[in-house]
Amino acid sequence: MRLVIIGPPGAGKGTQAKFIQGQFGIPQISTGDILRKAASDHTVLGDKASVFVQAGKLVPDDLTLDMVTERLSADDCTKGYILDGFPRTVPQAKGLETWLKGLGSQLDRVLYLNVPEEALIQRLAGRRTCRGCGTLYHLVFDPPRQPGICDDCRRELYQREDDRGNIITARLETYKAQTVPLIKFYRERGLLTEIDGVERAGKVKDQVFESLV
Ligand code: AP5
Repeated sequence: MRLVIIGPPGAGKGTQAKFIQGQFGIPQISTGDILRKAASDHTVLGDKASVFVQAGKLVPDDLTLDMVTERLSADDCTKGYILDGFPRTVPQAKGLETWLKGLGSQLDRVLYLNVPEEALIQRLAGRRTCRGCGTLYHLVFDPPRQPGICDDCRRELYQREDDRGNIITARLETYKAQTVPLIKFYRERGLLTEIDGVERAGKVKDQVFESLV
């Protein structure tokens, strides 16, 4: 199963991708996670990308497309994958489509998580992530048992740099300008399933799983 999850920042793409990965045994490929790792390792890609990420802008299409097609060529992707945060522009979507066509393949489904802006800001501002295992928490909706510490691996939780103040606003603007056109793009191809992402994460998961059977 080759899936894409699209939706605004904080819609729950990562949360739902992890549920799907657990249920269907296919890897979650988050371009945001790959870029953050590259930035913390100070690779050439990471240093180039962090300027855009910290401004709430998109990393240039050619960099992300190369990065994703390389990742999709790995052995663990042969049975499928969940693309979380890619594509994010129509040129990225066309690039992916062409690349897959070259392999005689195509996407099976695109899930669009629809969440209104006021909920997004609250979700982003309260998100905390484990430095060790990457588990996601929320200060209000899904708090850890012990403040600041991961329930699973006991490592420290951190707040993403881009989950603060005006970077959140910039990310939401970028989404409206550059990613919203993808909804039409995939709807026209008959691939889009819209999911109401407002309910709590477990209820959204039920809708997601229902749409995948
Ligand atoms: P990325 O890391 O992909 O950020 P994003 O798309 O802005 O999405 P988020 O990770 O912020 O949110 P999410 O939808 O995954 O929500 P989550 O499940 O964590 O990208 C970061 C940056 O990298 C971009 O801004 C860009 O610069 C660059 N980049 C990445 N991909 C790129 C690309 N393809 N092209 C160019 N540049 C790219 O949930 C959020 C919080 O809400 C959590 O605390 C969670 O616990 C909570 N939550 C989740 N679901 C619910 C629910 N149903 N109810 C209540 N709380 C919930």
